[in-house]
Amino acid sequence: MHDRIAVVGGAGRLGTRITRRLMEQGYRVRVVSREPHRGRLPLGVELHRGDVRYADTLASALRGCAGVVFTVEPGTANSGPDSPETTMYDGVRNVLAAATGEGESPHMVLISQIFVTRREHPMNAYGQLLDWRLRGEDAVRACGLPYTVIRPSWLTDDTFAGARVRLEQGDRGDGWVSRDAVAEAAVNALVTTEARGMTFELYNEPGEAPVDWAPLFRRLTHDRVPSWTDHSG
Ligand SMILES: NC(=O)c1ccc[n+]([C@@H]2O[C@H](COP(=O)([O-])OP(=O)(O)OC[C@H]3O[C@@H](n4cnc5c(N)ncnc54)[C@H](OP(=O)(O)O)[C@@H]3O)[C@@H](O)[C@H]2O)c1
Repeated sequence: MHDRIAVVGGAGRLGTRITRRLMEQGYRVRVVSREPHRGRLPLGVELHRGDVRYADTLASALRGCAGVVFTVEPGTANSGPDSPETTMYDGVRNVLAAATGEGESPHMVLISQIFVTRREHPMNAYGQLLDWRLRGEDAVRACGLPYTVIRPSWLTDDTFAGARVRLEQGDRGDGWVSRDAVAEAAVNALVTTEARGMTFELYNEPGEAPVDWAPLFRRLTHDRVPSWTDHSG
């Protein structure tokens, strides 16, 4: 039996796919949700109530996990509990703190998005969503854990954009990627050492789905971790 992986947001559309793929590979999966119910989740999944905005709801949910996937939809209010700051920044830091609370060092996979470095994009009008997402990414890159930051392009539930995947860095592109492809990327990031310390954008294009993700990860450049750490406050 494999290790236990926590999927925070694991009852969502992408999270469900990640959960299912991990369980197919023999992992024990713990889904963290604000209102846990099995719904479309596979039999045997562990369900934990947790809200990333409230640190005290996360400790038991994240204890003893070898990996954590964060796939949480941000609020879009300018301030308050439904703002991107609370989910994408405070929430990420709360998860990092809870996941390492007993000296553990799980692999953290953060689902972010394209455009996070393009502040002028209209999405940033919603509670500075892009700015807070980037700060959440920075917190992961600086946390000292093994990590992978995945920036999906626009998500689809089908494969109209193709099944081949393209991994880019530098956040200059635009395009589409299926939730199935992002789920594959997240699962492969957890099990492939070559994906550690990487941030990349993810797109689909016409062609076949990859069989082996390791060569794709090997073509990427490791992140330069900022010299400042952002765990204050
Ligand atoms: N839509 C796009 O084109 C696009 C593009 C790039 C990246 N993304 C990102 O990809 C990720 C997955 O997207 P998706 O479409 O699968 O989203 P989704 O179906 O809305 O699922 C997101 C999950 O976030 C969880 N969540 C929200 N607030 C939470 C909180 N405070 N604490 C704990 N869990 C919380 C919800 O779980 P519960 O309700 O069970 O708590 C929900 O199931 C998101 O981060 C999204 O922003 C989306």
